[in-house]
Amino acid sequence: MKPDPIRRLDVELDTRRYPIRIGPGLLDHDDWPGLIRGRHVLVISDGNVAPHYLERVLERLAGYSVAIFVVPPGEAEKTLTRFSEALAELARMGASRDATVLALGGGVVGDLSGFVAACWMRGIAFIQLPTTLLAMVDSSVGGKTAVDLPQGKNLVGAFHQPAAVIADTATLATLPARELSAGLAEVVKYGALGDAEFFTWLEAHAEALLAREPAAIGTAIERSCQHKAAIVARDETEQGERALLNLGHSFGHALETADAYGGLLHGEAVAIGMVLAAQLSSRMGMAPARDAERLAALLQRMNLPTTLPPDADPAQLLALMRLDKKNLSGRLRLILWHGLGRACIVPDVDEAIVLACLEQARDEAARP
Ligand code: NAD
Ligand code: GLY
Repeated sequence: MKPDPIRRLDVELDTRRYPIRIGPGLLDHDDWPGLIRGRHVLVISDGNVAPHYLERVLERLAGYSVAIFVVPPGEAEKTLTRFSEALAELARMGASRDATVLALGGGVVGDLSGFVAACWMRGIAFIQLPTTLLAMVDSSVGGKTAVDLPQGKNLVGAFHQPAAVIADTATLATLPARELSAGLAEVVKYGALGDAEFFTWLEAHAEALLAREPAAIGTAIERSCQHKAAIVARDETEQGERALLNLGHSFGHALETADAYGGLLHGEAVAIGMVLAAQLSSRMGMAPARDAERLAALLQRMNLPTTLPPDADPAQLLALMRLDKKNLSGRLRLILWHGLGRACIVPDVDEAIVLACLEQARDEAARP
């Protein structure tokens, strides 16, 4: 059998570009260490990823002055406390402005590392080495970095683009099945928001993706990164179109916050949120209900939740949605759709309709 090809694309920004490389074995064989400019390297990882992959990364860093910062796994660690601990590591090693941060892990490690790199000496380089499907298709690309507050997700952060994204797809072999499905939610998002043909491809390849077939996984990551890179190139700091990437996220972030970053994974919350956004669009007369059903059916085949948790409190979720970063002038600004592949920004959504939609979803979830 032929070895898997390495897939390559660039994120092209106004002032610079950076590479995304996708394929098996890149941690060991790609020339990513050549992108490190200075002498100091801080590797940030988490307690699940480090035992599998840290040693292999360190082997590539002979000759550099290297510090390691390993956080416990999970969203609950994407905090200002971990952020300041990582900065303290940079200070301890005497990192200068040409230091590089390596983010080895999922979106939690990537978002935290990127924010650390954005802030140390007003900004140093960082390289994304994503190890979850979600990070490979979404969080490692595009330069959104952040930590959470108890009041809400990603409320403190910065736009800071990585120097490169090196997605070693062989690392997905150790990813738990539930995390793989959470990543698939963000893959489905690209089809749902702007590419009905890709959505149909996903319907045809759902089982192959769940079985981690390399060709299907490689194609899904590449197509997702193409979508993300194109949108980021046109709207790096989310003045407009980039907000479409948040389809399902206003509901999803509220669910995650209500759940206090414990039960639902980010991708699971996004899956529920996308279905709620589709149902709300139908309720507002913007989109066919059939498309919302098709979206829910694909997500369910990918082992994702699509209904509200039974203990969800619609009024609390609406209150949390008021703190979403997409809102302007105190009005609910949501990403909804006109149907599959046709997402849109709706600037001033009536809160009463959102509440009614949440209440109906809660009542349906409670039905035996
Ligand atoms: P995560 O980083 O928590 O990783 C999920 C779990 O898988 C963790 O327990 C981790 O330790 C484990 N893991 C990671 N790679 C593994 C591997 N190869 N083998 C075994 N275990 C592994 O979560 P995630 O889903 O990758 O990312 C979610 C985060 O990303 C959220 O904080 C979300 O807000 C953020 N996000 C950011 C952006 C962005 O544009 N910056 C976009 C989407 C999501
Ligand atoms: N994940 C949303 C964005 O990068 O804009």
